[in-house]
Amino acid sequence: MQLFDNPASPFCRKVQVLLRETGQLDEVETTYAVGHPLAPDRMPLAENPLGKIPCLVRDDGPALYDSRVICRYLDARGEGGLYPEGRIWEVLTLEATADGIMDAAVLMIYEGRSRPEALRYPAWVDAQWDKIARALDALESRWMGHLAGRLDMGQIAVGCALGYLDFRLPDRDWRKGRTALAEWFEAFGQRDSMAATVPSA
Ligand code: BEZ
Repeated sequence: MQLFDNPASPFCRKVQVLLRETGQLDEVETTYAVGHPLAPDRMPLAENPLGKIPCLVRDDGPALYDSRVICRYLDARGEGGLYPEGRIWEVLTLEATADGIMDAAVLMIYEGRSRPEALRYPAWVDAQWDKIARALDALESRWMGHLAGRLDMGQIAVGCALGYLDFRLPDRDWRKGRTALAEWFEAFGQRDSMAATVPSA
């Protein structure tokens, strides 16, 4: 299988962590992809009409995207048990919460990276951060029990979201007032799969 990937992307990191946790790393050949809607030439446009990564090209079927679909597929393929039926709605909601943090953070970064200075809108950027802050508060107040449990895809997604905040938005200090989440991330980040996939530009 071919995986279109970028080591800075938290969505791609979810897939990379899952590949390691389920012992499937050798099943995938990684192709570097980079770009955004204004510069999509080095994105997998033929494989994913949305031009987004990660995108997984299977040997025996059409390409898969987005990260949630790819992770669910690879988990089923590798019998990883990262989407346990007994708590599936919690796992999917936690994964969606983490993906929402990533979406908002990536929008903040793209605003600075690809929008001409005169067209930037700081209030819109701050509103993205407000969304992230609310989600982080929900993790701290409602999800710590789940995060402390057996490994699942919700936990992996949260780990990748927090890692991206450290990577691209360190000045926002997401740990402030969220001691339990910060402690959880400290321990979770030491998993081999997380240590091997720390984001890089
Ligand atoms: C980044 O450089 O932050 C980035 C790269 C690819 C996808 C998302 C984010």
